[in-house]
Amino acid sequence: MNHFLDIHKTDAGALQGMLSKAREMKDARNGRPKGTPDDDQPLKGRMVALIFEKPSTRTRVSFDVGVRQMGGETMVLSGNDMQLGHGETIADTARVLSRYVDLIMIRTFDESVLTEMAEYSDVPVINGLTDRTHPCQIMADVMTYEEHRGPIAGKKVVWCGDGNNVCASFLHAAGQFGFDLTFAGPPQFDPEDEFVGYARRKGSKVAIERDAAKAVAGADLVVTDTWVSMHDSQSSKERRHNMLRPYQVNEALMSHAKPDALFMHCLPAHREEEATSAVMDGPHSVIFDEAENRLHAQKAIMRWCLGV
Ligand code: CP
Ligand code: NVA
Repeated sequence: MNHFLDIHKTDAGALQGMLSKAREMKDARNGRPKGTPDDDQPLKGRMVALIFEKPSTRTRVSFDVGVRQMGGETMVLSGNDMQLGHGETIADTARVLSRYVDLIMIRTFDESVLTEMAEYSDVPVINGLTDRTHPCQIMADVMTYEEHRGPIAGKKVVWCGDGNNVCASFLHAAGQFGFDLTFAGPPQFDPEDEFVGYARRKGSKVAIERDAAKAVAGADLVVTDTWVSMHDSQSSKERRHNMLRPYQVNEALMSHAKPDALFMHCLPAHREEEATSAVMDGPHSVIFDEAENRLHAQKAIMRWCLGV
């Protein structure tokens, strides 16, 4: 049984294997209607629990559709409606759910909820985002980069803005897939040392840069995310915006990147804040391919978890 908790906790060969499976399954669908099942039905007879303690559009829909395409069934559970949100321990919840379902995907706040769920669950657990990481997103992002430009190894990725949970998983991926990452943002928003240290130990060049234009120079991929994440307090919004505004991804900033650079954003975006519509809808942008690839990458992740 394999949990998919974080990119750095998963074998690099297994990650590559998941991405090739994802590409193979994407190709096999070959423009078929989205509601039709795959020829292959590896999840037939399996039940997947999708638990959300925070809102979601992409994660929720892509997991749900992915399971159904592979012949399985889902139940979508809101943390608040479960006893989990009313004091039942994570360990007991994990033990009980393991008696009913074959796989658990959870989006939660504190990373410890995810790790405790995995510790006490008899079935695989997938990280659908925590306050600290978002590994499924970055699997889709690496898949998207490679689909458009070939291997990401050795490329320069620039992260602009808040060194948040998505940035952390990008640093894990830098280490595992062998690319370099420059962070451009104010010091208060630097990614945690733990994530930077991990990527560096794995041989990635990680630079911290305060000047956005300098950071983006020669970039193969420019990435940003919301300035106020779901775990951030709304009262910090104005302060965060004021500090992060110099790192907005706009056409002027993108002009410093390589001419064939890609632009990514995990979405949901706040247009004209962290990125302008001119960039989001412009020639560098692959944001909707990224969103689509959540589906394909996660199907491969689920197959790897279940060994099917
Ligand atoms: N990118 C992402 O995880 O989106 P949702 O919050 O809509 O799931
Ligand atoms: N950093 C964002 C990502 C949303 C998919 C958040 O945690 O809210």
